[in-house]
Amino acid sequence: MTTHITAIGSGKGGTGKTLISVSLAYALAHQGERVLLCDADLGLANAAVHLGVGETGDLAGLLAGTRTLKDAVVRVASGPRASFDLLAAPSGSGALANASEAQIQKLIAALESAQGYDRVLVDLGAGVDNSVMTVAARADETLLVLTPDPASLTDAYAFAKLLLRRTTTRMPQALVNMALNATEGRRVADALIGSANAFLKAAPDYLGYVPFDARVPEAVRRQGPLLSLFPQSPASAAIEGIARKLHGAGTPVAAVGLR
Ligand SMILES: Nc1ncnc2c1ncn2[C@@H]1O[C@H](COP(=O)(O)OP(=O)(O)OP(=O)(O)O)[C@@H](O)[C@H]1O
Ligand SMILES: [Mg+2]
Repeated sequence: MTTHITAIGSGKGGTGKTLISVSLAYALAHQGERVLLCDADLGLANAAVHLGVGETGDLAGLLAGTRTLKDAVVRVASGPRASFDLLAAPSGSGALANASEAQIQKLIAALESAQGYDRVLVDLGAGVDNSVMTVAARADETLLVLTPDPASLTDAYAFAKLLLRRTTTRMPQALVNMALNATEGRRVADALIGSANAFLKAAPDYLGYVPFDARVPEAVRRQGPLLSLFPQSPASAAIEGIARKLHGAGTPVAAVGLR
């Protein structure tokens, strides 16, 4: 059996991919899933920075073939009763910036055959280059993060188009980050869905939105998980709702304390 892979991409940089990847890992672990978070931002990995953990695991070692997946991950506590595994490389190490096609394939194979996990979350990093789209196309589902910034819409459309070209049938699920409110979230998603319907004859589903929330940059500055530092914040609540949708198609799960 292969592990369910959820990839998070956007095309454009700075849309909130890492925030959402890290927060979903955190929330899904609390909802009882056994999660592996892979920071596949091969240029500028920073999931560990968002989490405030010193250990990143050894993604470079896995790609070089000197480590197995089991030896390359580190465990991250997400509260007294929940944890998930992280597979990354130190931020700014540059070790992975020029990963070869063979190394990308090795990473995908390792993630697909990862034992002991219900889900692998992959932070794809920015761009729509070959490595990003190769991983996106092999994932079971792809979350496409966009924001009200018009440039993000253009890049999200390019991402959806390339994913469709590689898979012939698959569309990503649209997640609007930094929206002012539900109306703006819907409007931004509809703009993407409209263009995709018109030109690609297929459209992403709308997964939901995460509001613009001053607690997010504060959590990033404090280098701690948003859901741990500010569990009551609007962005935390929205991400938990999205995690519940992913986990059980909208079925509420028994709440577990986040501290
Ligand atoms: N919902 C939000 N409300 C307010 N600020 C946010 C929100 N989401 C993300 N940010 C801010 O946007 C910045 C970029 O977030 P993040 O690093 O998660 O984006 P990214 O898509 O991973 O970027 P990159 O493409 O560089 O990897 C961060 O400084 C974060 O604080
Ligand atoms: Mg990032």
